Amino acid sequence: MAKNTLTITDNRTGKQYELPIENDTIRAGDLRQIKVSADDFGMMTYDPAFTNTASCKSKITFIDGDRGILRYRGYPIEELAEHSNYLETAYLVVKGELPDRKRLQMWEHNVKVHTMVHENIKKFMEGFRYDAHPMGMLVGTIGALSTFYPDAANIHDLESRRLQTRRLIGKLPTLAAFAYRQSRGLPYIYPDNDLSYTGNFLSMLFRMTELKYKPNPVLERALDLLFILHADHEQNCSTNAMRSVGSSQVDPYSATAAAVAALYGPLHGGANEAVVRMLTEIGSVDRIPELIKKVKAGERRLMGFGHRVYKNYDPRAKILKKAAYEVFEVTGANPLIEIALELERIALQDDYFVSRKLYPNVDFYSGIIYQAMGFPTAMFPVLFAIPRTSGWMSQWAEMVRDEEQKIARPRQVYIGEGPRSYIPIEKRPVPTMREEAVAEEI
Ligand code: CMC
Repeated sequence: MAKNTLTITDNRTGKQYELPIENDTIRAGDLRQIKVSADDFGMMTYDPAFTNTASCKSKITFIDGDRGILRYRGYPIEELAEHSNYLETAYLVVKGELPDRKRLQMWEHNVKVHTMVHENIKKFMEGFRYDAHPMGMLVGTIGALSTFYPDAANIHDLESRRLQTRRLIGKLPTLAAFAYRQSRGLPYIYPDNDLSYTGNFLSMLFRMTELKYKPNPVLERALDLLFILHADHEQNCSTNAMRSVGSSQVDPYSATAAAVAALYGPLHGGANEAVVRMLTEIGSVDRIPELIKKVKAGERRLMGFGHRVYKNYDPRAKILKKAAYEVFEVTGANPLIEIALELERIALQDDYFVSRKLYPNVDFYSGIIYQAMGFPTAMFPVLFAIPRTSGWMSQWAEMVRDEEQKIARPRQVYIGEGPRSYIPIEKRPVPTMREEAVAEEI
């Protein structure tokens, strides 16, 4: 039987090392024994952006990027999308199993009792400038929640972790809706816990003078579906931020604020906003080749395409492409869909995209749906943050319980100056214009 080990020969010394292989990985720490001399620090791996480094063991989400497979706790995303709802999926993500009827009812109740926020949070949000981006407001407000719940610092207490998880999942739609209403100059609407999770969210967003808001069931379900698809996605940029910041043992609100900040970026949760901007800029199908040319020349990226993990069609994009038409039945078609479909068709026939395995990702169609539903583009990443909270909290709790985890602290390869002595200011050489220009580039 072949041994489950890796033998490495160090050609600098001629020495051989046998490293154990576990789950198709070697432990980076095992490389430290590879040294040229006794005082050598030992071998490290160099992996900017962690493209080939597993930072944790996880039981939450499985992705096979080559085959386009996504499962939460073993359940295929397609089955959850068809049969589940967001709160049930959040239970699954957080607790590891699908709930029975009684547990689901309790969970729904326990989340809903946390939909209200402290009145001071409301005042805090009113302090933002009239044109504040709702994601910026969310980052600040979630961070501020840690000051309202100092008990959250007890991260090693199971009951506290559970409570903060329910609080955050319950409060995120309220904070998101308040941010939206603030940007529109509209009064905040308090939660209506008779409604479903997404129904209540729609009510807090769009209710005007009516006494009771009645969400459109198709849009309520579409939003619920979008929430299911965004619940978790293993070690993506924001989840990595959540785990990394959380590894300092800070409270989960502060860690979630960091995760939301990571999600704000255009390469992550901001991508669907960028897709809609790009499609609007293209304007008509005849202008697609022009954009493709620019992308191929490396002048810009095709937003909503490509993924670090998926080298096949993102299964979430497939589900959303279908769901878009159900939403359009109610809202009327979003004209951007024609451009998106044609752009996808052209790109998937083009060798540039085929050879790089660039396929539509979840953000390619989600923005078009959000726009048809009446959300302004600035709200798109917020709509990503709400459901991802269950994933972040689940990943954070897994990290806290994992005895192998420590404070996240990567190494570096230092390539700067060697030791040099301080030069008094009057003795420093005056840099030439060229040297100054180079310094500025840095
Ligand atoms: N348009 C054009 N070329 C691309 C794109 C794109 N969207 N994505 C990757 N490439 C090219 C890239 O230029 C590189 O080409 P070459 O080998 O010639 O240098 C090659 O494909 C590999 O790209 P990479 O930058 O090494 O890939 P990555 O794994 O670092 O980046 C990504 C992944 C998602 C950041 C990137 O594909 C991207 O910027 N996509 C557009 C933004 C986007 O849609 N983001 C949403 C991601 S899904 C939801 C989420 O996780 O938030």
